[in-house]
Amino acid sequence: MSVFPIDRVRREFPALSQSHDGRPRVFMDNPAGTQLPRRVVEAVSGALVDAASNYGGYFENSRNAEAIYADAHGAMADFVNARSPQEIVVAQSMTSLTLHMSRSLGRRFAAGDEIIVTRMDHEGDVSPWLLLAEDLDLVIRWLPFSRDTWKIEPEDLEPLLGPRTRLLALNGASNLTGSINDLTDLTELARSVGATTWVDAVQLAPHQCIDVQALGCDFLVCSSYKFFGPHLGVLWGRRELLDELPAYKVRCASDASPEKWETGTPQTELLAGLAACVDHYDWLGGEVSGEDSRRGRIEAAYAAAIDYEACLVMRLIDGIRAIPGTTVHGIVNPNRVGERVPTVSVTHDRVSPPEAAERLARDGICVWSGHNYALEVVRHLGIDEETGVVRIGLAHYNTEEEVDRTLAALERALR
Ligand SMILES: Cc1ncc(COP(=O)(O)O)c(C=O)c1O
Repeated sequence: MSVFPIDRVRREFPALSQSHDGRPRVFMDNPAGTQLPRRVVEAVSGALVDAASNYGGYFENSRNAEAIYADAHGAMADFVNARSPQEIVVAQSMTSLTLHMSRSLGRRFAAGDEIIVTRMDHEGDVSPWLLLAEDLDLVIRWLPFSRDTWKIEPEDLEPLLGPRTRLLALNGASNLTGSINDLTDLTELARSVGATTWVDAVQLAPHQCIDVQALGCDFLVCSSYKFFGPHLGVLWGRRELLDELPAYKVRCASDASPEKWETGTPQTELLAGLAACVDHYDWLGGEVSGEDSRRGRIEAAYAAAIDYEACLVMRLIDGIRAIPGTTVHGIVNPNRVGERVPTVSVTHDRVSPPEAAERLARDGICVWSGHNYALEVVRHLGIDEETGVVRIGLAHYNTEEEVDRTLAALERALR
C-alpha cells in the first residue's frame, strides 16, 4: 500500500489555508458539503469567461459550452462506471432529481401499488416518495434498519416485498450513522419481485468508488458538492428506463436522454466544475498508481483514500468514546470500519448538540448539529428531533492532527 499523499492533496484545496483566530480552520462538516480543489474553482470561473453562451450556436463560445456539457457527462459516466454518458442526468440537486423522476416513475404506478422507503434515509429520498404515494394513493411500506448492525438487513426487507411492490428507495450510506448498506443483496431481492430500485448514493459516493454495473440497481443519485465538486445533483439511470419513461419537459426540448430530463438551460459553469472534480480523482489516482485509464485511476484514488480515512475515523471514534458522557450513534467496532463511511454522530448526556457545535465553531472546528434531514433515523433511535446529534464527518483532505484538535475541542465543549 502506498503512503497517502496528504500534503499534496491539501495543497490542491485553497480553503484549507483559511484560519480562525490564528489557527487553521478545520473542516469536519464534510457530509454537508466539501471544500473544492483549485482545479474546480478555475474550471467554473474559466467557463464563465469562455463558455457563457447557449448551446447550438455557430460560434466558438457556444461550441465551448457544448464541449463542457459532453466532458461533464463523460466524466461522470466514468466516475460511476456507466455504460454511456447518455445514462447521466445532471440537475440542481439530488432532491430535485428525485422529485422530478419520481413523477415520471409514478406514471407506471396504480392506486394500491406499494413502494418501500427506509427509516435510514435522508428526507431527500423519503419525502418525494411520500408525496407520490399521497398523489397516487400508493401504499408506503417502511423498512427499518437494524439497531444491532446499523444497516438494513435482507430479512427485514423480505416480508415487505410482494406482487404489488413497485419500488425500493434506499441509501448507500447513512448521512447520520455513516453505516453502509449491502446494496447488491438488497437490490437483488427487490428486483426478484420486479420492483424498480432507486439508490441514494449521496453519502456513499465521497467515500466508496461507485460501480453502477456491479450494484444492480435501476437508478442511482449523488451530489457533487459532497465529493469536491459544485452544487449539482447527478443521476445515473438504466438506459432502457431513461428512454422509455415519459419526461416532464417542454414540447420543443429533445426527446433523447439525458436532455429530456434536464429541464431548461444547462448550468455550463457548474458542469465545468463537475468534470474538474472527477479530474481531482483522476489526478489523485495518478499520484498513487500507474493506472492508465481514467476509470482505473478513479478506482485507485478511492482505494488509497479508503485506507487513509479508515485510520482517521477510528482515531476519531476512539477519542470521542473516551470523553465521559458521549454516545456514538453508529458502528464503533474497528473490525467493521469497512462497513461505514467516516461520518460520526454523537450525543452527550448533558450538553446539547447545537451548544456543542457552537462551542466547536468558536474553536475553529466546523461541524453540524441537528437531525441533518435524517428525520426518520433520529426518530428510530429515539434521539430528540429538535437538537439531534453533533455530526463530525471526514474527507480525504483531513489529517490526524485535525482529528486530535477536534477531539480536544470537543472535550472542552462537553465539559
Ligand atoms: C444521504 C443524502 N441524501 C440526499 C441529500 C440531498 O442532497 P441534495 O442537497 O443534492 O438535494 C443529502 C444531503 O445532505 C444526503 O446526505
